[in-house]
Amino acid sequence: MVAVDPIRLADYKPWPFALPEIALDVDLRSDQVVVTSDLSLEPLSTNVPLILRGVELTLDGLAVDGEPLDPSTWIQEGDRLTVTGLPDRPFVLTTRCSIDPFNNTSLEGLYTSGGMLTTQCEAEGFRRITFHPDRPDVLSRWRVRIEADRHRYPVLLSNGNAVQSLELGSDRHAVLWEDPFPKPSYLFALVAGDLREIRDSFTTTSGRTVALRLHVEAGDEPFTAHAMESLKRSMQWDECTYNLEYDLDEYNIVAVRHFNMGAMENKSLNIFNSKLVLADAETATDGELERIESVIAHEYFHNWSGNRITCRDWFQLSLKEGLTVFRDQNFTADLHSAAVKRIDDVAMLRNTQFREDAGPTAHPVKPSEYQAIDNFYTTTIYEKGAELIRMLHTLLGSKRFMRGMATYVSRFDGTAATTEDFVQAIADGACANGETLGFDLEQFKRWYHQAGTPQLTVERSWEARSGRLTLHLRQQTPPTPEQPVKQPLVLPIAMALIGSTGRQGEERLLVFDQEEQVIEIGAVPGPQPPALSILRRFSAPVTLQMDMTLEETLQLLAADDDPFSRWEAGQRLSRQVLLARAAAEPDATVESALIHALRQSLVDMDVQQGSELAVLLSLPGMAELEACQEPVDPLALFDAMQSWRSVLGCELKSELHDLLEQCRSQWSQPWPKGQGARSLTGVAWSWLLAAGDAQTPAEALNAVSGPSMTLARAALRALQRHAGPEREEALRVFYDRWKDKPVILDAWFGLEASTPRSDGLKRVKDLLEHPRFDPLAPNALRAVLGGFMANVPLFHAIDGSGYTFIAEQIVDVDQRNPVTASRMVKVFSRWRSYALERQLVMQEAIQLLDVPALSSNTREVVVMLKA
Ligand code: BES
Ligand code: ZN
Repeated sequence: MVAVDPIRLADYKPWPFALPEIALDVDLRSDQVVVTSDLSLEPLSTNVPLILRGVELTLDGLAVDGEPLDPSTWIQEGDRLTVTGLPDRPFVLTTRCSIDPFNNTSLEGLYTSGGMLTTQCEAEGFRRITFHPDRPDVLSRWRVRIEADRHRYPVLLSNGNAVQSLELGSDRHAVLWEDPFPKPSYLFALVAGDLREIRDSFTTTSGRTVALRLHVEAGDEPFTAHAMESLKRSMQWDECTYNLEYDLDEYNIVAVRHFNMGAMENKSLNIFNSKLVLADAETATDGELERIESVIAHEYFHNWSGNRITCRDWFQLSLKEGLTVFRDQNFTADLHSAAVKRIDDVAMLRNTQFREDAGPTAHPVKPSEYQAIDNFYTTTIYEKGAELIRMLHTLLGSKRFMRGMATYVSRFDGTAATTEDFVQAIADGACANGETLGFDLEQFKRWYHQAGTPQLTVERSWEARSGRLTLHLRQQTPPTPEQPVKQPLVLPIAMALIGSTGRQGEERLLVFDQEEQVIEIGAVPGPQPPALSILRRFSAPVTLQMDMTLEETLQLLAADDDPFSRWEAGQRLSRQVLLARAAAEPDATVESALIHALRQSLVDMDVQQGSELAVLLSLPGMAELEACQEPVDPLALFDAMQSWRSVLGCELKSELHDLLEQCRSQWSQPWPKGQGARSLTGVAWSWLLAAGDAQTPAEALNAVSGPSMTLARAALRALQRHAGPEREEALRVFYDRWKDKPVILDAWFGLEASTPRSDGLKRVKDLLEHPRFDPLAPNALRAVLGGFMANVPLFHAIDGSGYTFIAEQIVDVDQRNPVTASRMVKVFSRWRSYALERQLVMQEAIQLLDVPALSSNTREVVVMLKA
């Protein structure tokens, strides 16, 4: 495989021109699109060549100040257009090129989705539209004229304000857009299509009335209310929490069926994957409604954290993504349950980011080099990046952190900044009144550069006579690719002591920044040491190594006042139970203690605390369990989970039936109210079904045709492992009901593909040929192939058939959509953690990816896997 020269952070140089203004003319014709661009350029040093980027563009004209350029002064090589001999004063460079969006399957640049034309420019898609430096530190004011057939494309959208509409004869029209805020090219967007508009408005604190417009395909109008309400809640929250208002007179969101990602924050013209817009209680689950609310918020929050203050280069990606994830996490926490949100986020961090950090694609929140930037939209940049900001918040306290945020915004508004700029501004703002920081800022910044999940080891000694408790802390980060040696980090460790009736004394925040440290907690009199509640709220993204007796764990589970720590205690026991079962050595003591504790929770808590109770009952994810097993045996873990569910269903049968009885009365409460009861119903069904309970199959099957999508999907999921006739019947009922709604049908594709059937592989292959399967839609691909990769018995079949199948599919997808393909390859990243036999078949599958035509995106990941 050919090595490509990486892009290095250390090589950053500002662009040698200013580009204050851009006028773009986009002429949409029936077979191609002609893009004319006027770039107002100002050389910042003398005699430097102008280098612009362009991918798959046909250059039709090139002029400076209206004069066509002499061919000897420019050259087009690969994706670069180099122009020399330019004037030493401001000038206008005009390029005219044509592009073919109708045959662009990459979903980057300008492309078609259904009958509409739409764009995706982040990170480097603008170069597929016209010649441009296409780097985030070049900010310009944009004017965009769009001309098109008025019947085919009645709606023409771009960023900013529509300043003029023109009717051009009977068939064509044009709209002129102006965006007053300077922005980089990755935030440019254009949409043309026959779209229906849903209108609303929001008045900001300072009295600006903003027109809110959602644009969807005809027929989808009834499913937009939730997205619209979510947008208004987001606008409100950013005003109340950060004092940040929206800055334009209109805000547009377009729902697009063919979209690689979830959504994109283009200035005043967000583009969303339809599945993250179209939803109501009948068509979406509670989880999906919450997800939609948070993604709408996320993209809205980018207007400040990303758009008004953008990234100097793509190494700074976490500047906008980590911060915006942190903001959307807090938004959801404030609107719903902070405890449940934190638990969900930690579970996700451990199952995805910790796994990434432990494998061949591990990288820092701020990488020092990359080949394809698309491969770096990772859980490390996003979720670990958000954790770093959360640690700053924990270390500084809310008030000082918020002052830091205000300093960051005022200092960098209208510019392209770095993560160092951010951290410094937070510190400066926090200490504005002469306060001291309380930790070493330079050391804190190591978090951005050092990959890997630190391991925190805690040992305790307790002197019974004096009651003196001493903690011995150690931290150590395992080596990651290209970073064999690690430095100690600043770890904020929230801790408290828990007695039988709850917390004893105040919570403390330890700032642990050495490799090793001994901390005296003080005298804690009593006959035995109190239980130690440490890393409360998961105050630092580390793995904790601490001996804990069963009694102590149970004490935390029963009496800790931090819901996260209570959950964590339960998870600790669940992990023990499942790993022991997977090793065929069930631990009867822990099992009966855990059953007893869960029974107690079922009795003590009721459906009013449904969501809290449901997370307490949830089992750890596969990835998290795999991280504790060596070598990893996915089939044994899968069986352990199912056998444990069946034990829980038998042992807790009567409590679960009582619980269901309570839940039923809450089923019809609209989201978010009935959410807890519905999650609990899902848990109860899945345990009772696993235990062979007689009533449950019929009740679950019935829910599939009921009014709640949440219950229908919970039923389908619970029935998935139930090889009886109800499973097939449920899937059939669901298909018949939703076959005409592609967004919902994807859930059916996903369920079919993840059902562990003996003839599963053949059935998955049939799904790819299904008349309603759209191979050009990433949602559909993710449903079928993602569903299959989550189908443990099939994907991990020891004959390697699952691995081979996925490798072949990746090669196929890669030809049309490298971004989606290179994400899928990461499923093989943990191949080294399996037993030899499995390693060999997995390696054979990875070998199938070694085809000459593989995209550079996918190749980069494959090379990392093999290294
Ligand atoms: N800026 C991204 C979208 C994006 C990512 C565009 C990668 C191009 C390449 C957007 O703000 C985002 O982060 N979207 C997430 C959802 C979000 C809630 C974390 C996504 O699309 O998954
Ligand atoms: Zn984002």
